[in-house]
Amino acid sequence: MPKPENANELHDVSTADEEFLADVIEGLSRKPQKTISPKYLYDKRGSELFDDITELDEYYPTRTELSIMRQYADEMAVAIGPAALLVEYGSGSSMKTGTLLKALKNVTGYVPVDISGEHLEEAAQRIAADFPALPVYPVCADFTQPFDLPPVEGTVRQRVAYFPGSTIGNFTKEQAADVLKHICALMGPGGGLLIGVDLEKDPEVLKRAYDDSEGVTAEFNLNLLDRMNRELDANFDRDAFEHQARYNSELHRIEMHIVAEKPQKVRLDGTEITFDAGESIHTENSHKFTEESFAELARKAGFKLIKVWKDPCAYFSVMYLEVAE
Ligand code: SAH
Ligand code: AVI
Repeated sequence: MPKPENANELHDVSTADEEFLADVIEGLSRKPQKTISPKYLYDKRGSELFDDITELDEYYPTRTELSIMRQYADEMAVAIGPAALLVEYGSGSSMKTGTLLKALKNVTGYVPVDISGEHLEEAAQRIAADFPALPVYPVCADFTQPFDLPPVEGTVRQRVAYFPGSTIGNFTKEQAADVLKHICALMGPGGGLLIGVDLEKDPEVLKRAYDDSEGVTAEFNLNLLDRMNRELDANFDRDAFEHQARYNSELHRIEMHIVAEKPQKVRLDGTEITFDAGESIHTENSHKFTEESFAELARKAGFKLIKVWKDPCAYFSVMYLEVAE
């Protein structure tokens, strides 16, 4: 069967370039806490650094989720059913997707969605090479905003979202509910969601995972300063800032901050931003869930929990949910 004409073509509906400056100036003007959305951590370099994080011993989520995928991919494929259109949210390097694609029966198409365009294109090409019969339709978009799926050839029995990595944990409860509602609307009646959800655990394990001994996570976080210097005509002195990972027990989350080591002024496209010593930019939350807390969040967004798979230490879970009738 020849591939559809629009397969392997990047559908770019992102508006990140125009919004980056406005979002950064707004976020750095906030009081008392300066904030920048974690989506800006992922330029090309940021995506590469995230891939390096996934290989660290201290960063347990990737290898744990992969082990769950490898052990239970066949059960997941049964839950998903044949002739699905698989839409992956925050697909990054699509490194867990191959395991699922091998188990699925007659997948109609694969739509990886990511904000990091170049990285997405390369990953989509790798999947297309590994699965020559599979139409791959990469979409560069910010999935916190509604977006349309590209036209797809062939019979789609159900649309299923694949959302690995516990990227859903990078949103606040309200933001996560909105993202899940968008997913629910896009998958539609009969649709499903296979999602990786990181579970609550000893805060010391979390702190090591988000402040690793090799400094890769620090590099990932501080790359945001380099990105603003490169793209927004800013003059951050990266040596005057440090990476911090803080556990917030009340909100069940690890937070990443970029902390000013001394008082300083930074220029950003003509705007001056002042930092006190010890003041931080909050760059990421990574919420940790219980099975119940996530099921409740998803229920409010319109999903019904069908099945949960976990590793033996219950560090991580992969859940299958269906769009509720
Ligand atoms: N799913 C992969 C990658 C996780 S890293 C894994 O499990 O290993 C998070 C990914 O989500 C990155 O590739 C990043 O570019 C993407 N991402 C983060 N925020 C996004 C947003 N708002 N819209 C689209 N993609 C986003
Ligand atoms: C993509 N996301 C789920 C990662 C996480 O664990 O929250 C991003 C990350 N931040 C620091 N290390 C990894």
